[in-house]
Order: sequence, then C-alpha cells, then structure tokens
Amino acid sequence: MKIISFEGVEGVGKSTQITMLDTYLESKGLSTEVLREPGSTQVGENIREILLNTSADLSNESELLLMFAARAQLISEKINYSDKDIILFDRFYDASLAYQGFGRGLSQEIINSLITFTKCPVPDITFLLDIEVEEGFKRKLNDKKDRIESSGIAFFEKVRSGYLDLSQNEPNRIKVLDAKKSIDELHKDIISFVDIIL
Ligand code: TMP
Repeated sequence: MKIISFEGVEGVGKSTQITMLDTYLESKGLSTEVLREPGSTQVGENIREILLNTSADLSNESELLLMFAARAQLISEKINYSDKDIILFDRFYDASLAYQGFGRGLSQEIINSLITFTKCPVPDITFLLDIEVEEGFKRKLNDKKDRIESSGIAFFEKVRSGYLDLSQNEPNRIKVLDAKKSIDELHKDIISFVDIIL
C-alpha cells in the first residue's frame, strides 16, 4: 500500500487535484481510497463537527488532541488493515505540525510524540499546494468560514511558512507545487511524481 497526502492552506485546490489523481489511479487499475482529515470515520466526523463548529470555544490544546483522537481512529479503522493499493489523504499529520504547531504555537516536540504514539505511517509522497494566503481566501470568498478558517490572516501566514519549513526538512517526501498554476498543469506535475512511486 502507498500513501499520498495533500496539504496546503485554505483555497489551494486540494480536493480538485485529489479527485483528478484518484480518477487517474483508477484508470490504471489501482484500488484507491480517499480519506479526509479530520474525519472519514463515524467518530472522526463527529470530532470534525466539534472542531469546525464556530460556536465552540476550544483551547489550542483541546484542538490538538481532538485532531489526534480523530487521526488515531482513522488509522485503526481505515489504514492498519487496508487492502487498497493507494490511500489518498486530504490532509494528514503535517497539518497538525503546520496548524497546531506553527500556527497555534504548540510544541513541535509534543506533536511529534503524538505522531509516534498514534503510529502514523509516513506518506510515500506529500504534495504541498502553495499559494499566498490572501489569494487562497479570495478563491473561497463565497464560502461560510468554519472555526479554524476564522483564525485570521496572521495565523494562516504562520501556517503557510510552517508548511514550507516542513518541506525544507523533508524535500524528498514533501513536494511543493505552485497552486496558482492551472488545474491541468498541476495535475500533470502531480502525476509525474506519482508515476515514480507506483
Ligand atoms: P479541510 O477544510 O481541509 O477539510 O480541513 C479542516 C480544517 O482543519 C482546516 O482548516 C485545516 C484544519 N486542520 C488542522 O488544523 N490540523 C490538522 O491536523 C488537520 C488534519 C486539519
């Protein structure tokens, strides 16, 4: 089984690229599963509702632990015994390092120990779709903002630069792509990397 994850701030176009890659992989006869985080299990979707609900007043620590509670459930239900060829993650643990670590200022060391504790598998490849924060939000202008999206531009600037930091530490796994490229160009870039790991 191979794991491919997609990361980036809001509005980078992850879902579109995941759907296109999923179609491409299925056309090659590979079995796939798309998982979103937080979510994709009954418990995880309930936790997602708490995390994104704008009326919740969550502490940063609760936010971090809820992300990992949802993740632990996902790993035990959907990853450990998966018979799929490829799992596509719409966000995975890098999001916790970027959002809760760099964004909220929580300890990277503690987040790394939660990654170890929940036995997160390391993705074979991670695509970081990168775009200026303001540009990403412009693309989502008509959407109602959830609790995390309401965290302000300064927060998302930290998240974006945090993601870029992570990619510099692991350049072989985390590929940074310019999310301002056209949908088709981005898809081609993604496929060129994915073909290497298949
Ligand atoms: P989504 O809108 O991309 O589905 O993600 C839900 C929100 O949760 C998004 O604002 C990013 C945030 N998030 C974190 O803060 N930490 C995490 O570990 C994950 C997986 C998501």
